[in-house]
Amino acid sequence: MSLWARLFFISIAIASAQTAAPGQNDYRFPNSQVLATQQKVANYNHPLREMVGGGEQKDIKYAFLDSKMLQVGCPSEQATIGLPLLPLRNWNEAHTHLDRHSGTHSIRNTTKTSHLEMMDIWNHRKIDHLEFVKVEVLQHDRMQVVTHPDFDAPVLIKTASFPWEILSLEREATVYGLLHGSGATPEFHGHVTEGGRVIGFITEYIAEVPSIRGRNMQGCLAALRTLHRRGIAHGDAHDGNCLIRKDGSAVLIDFELSVETWSLEEFERDLDIIGRCIQELSEHPY
Ligand SMILES: *[C@@H]1O[C@H](CO)[C@@H](O)[C@H](O)[C@H]1NC(C)=O
Repeated sequence: MSLWARLFFISIAIASAQTAAPGQNDYRFPNSQVLATQQKVANYNHPLREMVGGGEQKDIKYAFLDSKMLQVGCPSEQATIGLPLLPLRNWNEAHTHLDRHSGTHSIRNTTKTSHLEMMDIWNHRKIDHLEFVKVEVLQHDRMQVVTHPDFDAPVLIKTASFPWEILSLEREATVYGLLHGSGATPEFHGHVTEGGRVIGFITEYIAEVPSIRGRNMQGCLAALRTLHRRGIAHGDAHDGNCLIRKDGSAVLIDFELSVETWSLEEFERDLDIIGRCIQELSEHPY
């Protein structure tokens, strides 16, 4: 399979992991708002990230639907499946139960679970994600352009919608730390918390300007060499992961697959991918 076909399938896989509830059904708790959902994840029932309550009482909670529910309803027709009221206090994770005979859903249990959090906190700034005002969603709930009084311009936040996404984001935040001051990445502005737990990070937002892409691929290559000089292989060094600022400077993003290494083979792989992108862009510049 060609590189492009592979990247295409990887993006499809990522896109489908991020899309709405299976079987077209729309699962709603009457007193909360769905922030994110995912296709069934191994070992978890259908997960929902919910915002319960309002005003000062807003709280993020995780609900796992009884997976038997996924068989309810005909896949071709969209149905809104009514769920019970979520209790308000003293829990962050709920599991539901479907009674097959009556077809009613109930809360099986609620627990106060300590979810995985990011441990490598190297920047002094931490902001609760409910303090940000959303401007644009780039990748479902996971990447958003937001504003916050701490910043003059919109910034980007990348957060784990679910606890199992923490590890790859933690790796990314660590790489930002290792590359701090190198100029090879967008500016790192701090960490994002959810009820005190660190679930993501804040960076400079660089809007993609397609018409200037292609003009500074040498800058992308230079940024990649900076990574290599600091002992980091990017792991996914295609042109979409290189952004060009309005002033023409180039930075790399998306370090979820990056590794700390001095392996020339890993560096070669990065250079090979970006080299093909440069070639492709010089043949079809726009
Ligand atoms: C809550 O219910 C889920 C789903 O049935 C189960 O897997 C889990 O062990 C239960 N947790 C507690 C603390 O009872």
